[in-house]
Amino acid sequence: MSEHKRYNLHHHARLSVAPMMDWTDRHCRYLHRLLSADTLLYTEMVTSAALVRGGALRLLEFDVAEHPVALQLGGSDPQELAQAAKLGQARGYDEINLNVGCPSDRVQSGTFGAVLMKDPARVAACVSEMRAAVDIEITVKCRIGVDDQDPEYVLPEFLARIVAAGCERVTIHARKAWLQGLSPKENRDIPPLDYDLVHRMKGLFPNLHISVNGGIESLDAAQGFLDAGLDGVMIGRTAYHQPTDILGTADQRIYGADTQTTAQDAVLQMLPYIESHLGAGGRLNQVTRHMLGLFAGRPGARLWRRKLSEEAHKPGAGPEVVEAALAQVQTVIQNAEDAPSEKEQSNA
Ligand SMILES: Cc1cc2nc3c(=O)[nH]c(=O)nc-3n(C[C@H](O)[C@H](O)[C@H](O)COP(=O)(O)O)c2cc1C
Repeated sequence: MSEHKRYNLHHHARLSVAPMMDWTDRHCRYLHRLLSADTLLYTEMVTSAALVRGGALRLLEFDVAEHPVALQLGGSDPQELAQAAKLGQARGYDEINLNVGCPSDRVQSGTFGAVLMKDPARVAACVSEMRAAVDIEITVKCRIGVDDQDPEYVLPEFLARIVAAGCERVTIHARKAWLQGLSPKENRDIPPLDYDLVHRMKGLFPNLHISVNGGIESLDAAQGFLDAGLDGVMIGRTAYHQPTDILGTADQRIYGADTQTTAQDAVLQMLPYIESHLGAGGRLNQVTRHMLGLFAGRPGARLWRRKLSEEAHKPGAGPEVVEAALAQVQTVIQNAEDAPSEKEQSNA
């Protein structure tokens, strides 16, 4: 059984950053953790087959600074998922999350992801086997339904089954997945969002910790869902593209702490991490690609992005690229502060 520190995940899950393949890798999570100490972070999806049959344990590597961090698994074989969950627990993850929302072709061919919304008995078996195999929390991320299902009927039935099987928290991406005819990207935008249904699920399952996901683009919107009675909010794309807006003030606004982190703080704190990544043979761009949005909507954002995009992939590029990009941003900020405001000019 796991011996590492226990986090109050029901608390941390008030806000979470969604699992996103190719985006929420360990470098991204390290950055997000610098911006927010409290927000719950999710890995990219890792398939149980890759871990159990492929022995790809390197996929589980992460930095202790990332806690609390949840491992998202993809799969549909209860025994295999249970073994994968054990590997995740042994590696030190705080939660195991089952992906029942991803509609990609590759995933459909392995009968897992969103297609499992059609087979709640199997999902319940998966949850139950994982529940028996580990003592960390087992959670599920699902859609409201797929294809021609009527979410009003299938979602409560689905939730009842997974709760009975031992699922302790659920995140509901508040739109259907259409398994035919839409790309994974379209499936994140085209099926309409139904937040009301998620609120009704909270009414039906008052003891289940329910997070809402899909199309939430600000902390104000997140707070609105919490105020309306939901237990958590999961944000994906906006947290990735505007990490400072979503995470930099999350500890203060969502968790009541008295700290906030600026983009500049985060950059400075990333430098030692970058040094050690390069020292271990990594490339600068593997880390900085997740940092492009740090100044989004702020002075110097364009220069920052451009400098990193143009130089971080070059062979031998090191932290000096990041320092130079930051210096450019600081110059823009300084010039903006030094320039007389329009009001001052008109008074002159
Ligand atoms: C690039 C990308 C990769 C994603 N990969 C996963 C994944 O591995 N597992 C998963 O459950 N959802 C995945 N999603 C879906 C997100 O977790 C989230 O449900 C979706 O983006 C809706 O939230 P948002 O509107 O806040 O972005 C992915 C989304 C994106 C944009």
